[in-house]
Amino acid sequence: MNIQVYGSAARAGVAAAQVLAAQIIKDPFSVLGLATGSTPLPAYEALVELNKAGIIDFKTIRTFNLDEYVGISRTHEQSYHSFMHTHLFSKVNIDPQNTQLPYPSSDDPEEDCRAYDAAIDDAGGIDLQILGIGHNGHIAFNEPSDLFTYGTHIVELSKSTIEANKRFFDSADDVPQKAITMGIGTIMKAREIVLIATGQDKAQAVASMILGEIDPQCPASALLLHPQVTIFLDEDAASLLQ
Ligand code: PGA
Repeated sequence: MNIQVYGSAARAGVAAAQVLAAQIIKDPFSVLGLATGSTPLPAYEALVELNKAGIIDFKTIRTFNLDEYVGISRTHEQSYHSFMHTHLFSKVNIDPQNTQLPYPSSDDPEEDCRAYDAAIDDAGGIDLQILGIGHNGHIAFNEPSDLFTYGTHIVELSKSTIEANKRFFDSADDVPQKAITMGIGTIMKAREIVLIATGQDKAQAVASMILGEIDPQCPASALLLHPQVTIFLDEDAASLLQ
């Protein structure tokens, strides 16, 4: 695990974006795993600038997002479909056909989950996965649990996650209680992983991930077993590391 600490959240985001940009230049047919949340926004802004400057081209890039709420429509302003459209897809020259997010649209959500994992496999697997981390150590919506999950699945969101995400809704009661998420196994199959964590409120989760045991109660700790992970931190998120 390679850990890099930067002087600000913006600089950590730009540094992570440079890894994504390098992947796009190295392989114009790359498959990227994308994340939502406040953390990756500086990275997405940097990618938009690089695309506008003609340095990176999204024309043949394919993307799979980590997760989506269950129980709100794709067009809901807080859906992750909307988030990705607003912050990245509408601002770069990506083909919308090449962008996928999980969504349980049929009567058989388990089949939708299997189909999402199959679509990732059919695309050749994820070359580079970007991640944030939750206060409770979750990655994507893999909440603390007794076991690491394998494939894409439906989850009940924890109180901690609902509390953290209520800032985007009118109240905690309006936050969906369920989500569809790539599993830890889906994430671990990515050939390379970039995790960004910024802010003092992430310091404990970062310390548990890096300094603690490999334990599904801290889902991000599974990344200690992945051979190609880079963690981009600002000084606040790194403050509990030696
Ligand atoms: P955040 O969410 O970037 O909005 O803090 C990260 C996460 O919950 O994974």
